[in-house]
Amino acid sequence: MTKYYFLAFCRTFYFLSKKLVFDYGLSDNLEIERVIEMKKTVVITGASSGIGKATALMLGKKGYQVVLGARRENKLVEIKEQIEKENGTAIYQVTDVTKAEEVQKLADIAHDKFGQIDIWINCAGIMPQSMLAEKRINDWDNMLDINVKGTLYGIAAALTYMVPAKKGHIINISSIAAHAVGVGTSVYSATKAAVNAISEGLRQEMAQMKTNIRVTVVSPGAINTNLLNSITSEDVKKFVTDFYDNYAIPVDRIAKVIADAIEMPEDTTLNEIIVRSTAQEL
Ligand SMILES: NC(=O)c1ccc[n+]([C@@H]2O[C@H](COP(=O)([O-])OP(=O)(O)OC[C@H]3O[C@@H](n4cnc5c(N)ncnc54)[C@H](OP(=O)(O)O)[C@@H]3O)[C@@H](O)[C@H]2O)c1
Repeated sequence: MTKYYFLAFCRTFYFLSKKLVFDYGLSDNLEIERVIEMKKTVVITGASSGIGKATALMLGKKGYQVVLGARRENKLVEIKEQIEKENGTAIYQVTDVTKAEEVQKLADIAHDKFGQIDIWINCAGIMPQSMLAEKRINDWDNMLDINVKGTLYGIAAALTYMVPAKKGHIINISSIAAHAVGVGTSVYSATKAAVNAISEGLRQEMAQMKTNIRVTVVSPGAINTNLLNSITSEDVKKFVTDFYDNYAIPVDRIAKVIADAIEMPEDTTLNEIIVRSTAQEL
């Protein structure tokens, strides 16, 4: 009897495989497996540390094909190996988000390798806060280049493949600082407010073009990462470090929120999510 069921199963599988070959013009079993097991591909900028790293590890564990982008190759190698150790799939491409052609290359490599880009997360960012009177013009330029232009380059690269595919999900990491400006936060807040404005425009354009592309903004409060290392003003760094010592929450909270946004039904988008410690007033 068991033998009978086994034979019946084999016959069903054989005819289903044949049907796939007929319907999709597939020529060998390897490609049939690709269709049956189509996994989602996620590209993450700023994947070498903090929120990007935590998200890469969480999505890798959940079975997403993860494409890591950032400047520090040694960190990217470590994260790729960690994902693979847990039976996940990851590749990396050294990427400086201030260079549009490098961001486009990140997208091209992801598409060449996996045939699609389902989710693109613009996470690369810095927060060298300071008083305007300190005139740290270099920090201002870097924030505008990385936080704003880097996000735009990411959007451009993702749309290259998502618009023709008529599907996709772009997730931009903004900040609570987009909503609340404080002493020392002007330029950082301005860059994150720009990320919010760009994201809302993108959402409306994608809806009008009927692309099915989802746009999500994640605005964290204080999160325990290496972000404060980018602060060059000693006084401001001390103030912000004290604040983080009191209020920062673990980074995996943000990774979970990103995963939840991705896993909403595909006709529904979480457009903006603010996440912070219950103790954080602003
Ligand atoms: N932590 C928080 O409290 C908090 C709160 C609100 C919003 N955010 C936002 O969250 C995002 C991630 O920050 P994080 O907290 O995870 O800080 P983090 O640990 O310092 O990570 C920053 C990431 O950005 C990457 N990056 C910086 N400049 C880059 C460039 N030119 N090209 C490519 N990658 C670059 C870094 O990689 P490489 O140095 O290897 O390039 C690193 O992977 C940022 O956009 C930040 O504004 C963080």
